[in-house]
Amino acid sequence: MIKGKPFVKWAGGKRQIIDKLKQYVPDEFNTYYEPFVGGGALLFELSPKNAVINDYNKELMNVYWCIKDAKKFESMCKELNHYETMHSEEYYYEIRNLDRDKKKFNKIADYKRAARTIYLNKACFNGLYRVNSKNEFNVPFGKKNKVNTYEGQNLGIICGFLNYNNIKMLSVDFEEAVKEAKKGDFIYFDPPYDSDTTTFNSYTEGGFDKEEQKRLAKVFKDLDKRGCYVMLSNHNTTLVNELYKDYNIHIIEAKRNINANGKKRGKVEEVIITNFENKRGFEQ
Ligand SMILES: C[S@@+](CC[C@H](N)C(=O)[O-])C[C@H]1O[C@@H](n2cnc3c(N)ncnc32)[C@H](O)[C@@H]1O
Repeated sequence: MIKGKPFVKWAGGKRQIIDKLKQYVPDEFNTYYEPFVGGGALLFELSPKNAVINDYNKELMNVYWCIKDAKKFESMCKELNHYETMHSEEYYYEIRNLDRDKKKFNKIADYKRAARTIYLNKACFNGLYRVNSKNEFNVPFGKKNKVNTYEGQNLGIICGFLNYNNIKMLSVDFEEAVKEAKKGDFIYFDPPYDSDTTTFNSYTEGGFDKEEQKRLAKVFKDLDKRGCYVMLSNHNTTLVNELYKDYNIHIIEAKRNINANGKKRGKVEEVIITNFENKRGFEQ
């Protein structure tokens, strides 16, 4: 099977640790849930037949919705070709600042908004997605002379995957997204990272603080009680260790890319937490 890969560079993206992550996936499961889907690295890697994917970021989910719709998909690609030819620092800021006027912005066709999201991701500084309290995208220009916004073949594969399988796509809070999960379903949580100091976590206007991490741990516990397979990744912090002390905590090393200061990019410890062991997990 030819698999898709993330069409955006996303903070916390799991492409670099995908092989490690895959080792902890249950041997068998019913529906796959990914409530913080982001760039969808594990989703595409597993390419499940039944899935519920979700992200609070509406602009991001709009891209998934547009890729699924053949007509919108074609229009989005045309728009991206246009962006590539127009690309410059001035043009970047013109497109970026479209969300400053919310009334006008909300009237823009969804395929155009999807193209804007992809273009900004490729042309901005370091592929960050950051918005201010008014939900305005505020990442500066990435200083690239040329941008390749998409790989047609990859988007085609993703379009096929979304259409030929039973994939439900939502943009709600994570708790709402897993409401219908049942015994035998597999939920993978990849939330914004916790930190013992501070870290980047402004993917959405609300941010994701310690209270949110605690709320997530309650949802994890509830799904465990329902008989679901639950897996979660995060940084290896004091709070995370405390919240998940009753479960399997596997420590792994991961490279961290999203940091404004190049010197601070380096290895950080991440954890993969599961409420189950699979055969491959035991072989570690
Ligand atoms: C670490 S990223 C996910 C990375 C992703 N797994 C990947 O491979 O690219 C976390 C995601 O959680 C989303 N998010 C933040 N708060 C949320 C919430 N309350 N409910 C659902 N999604 C949320 C953010 O928009 C962001 O895309």
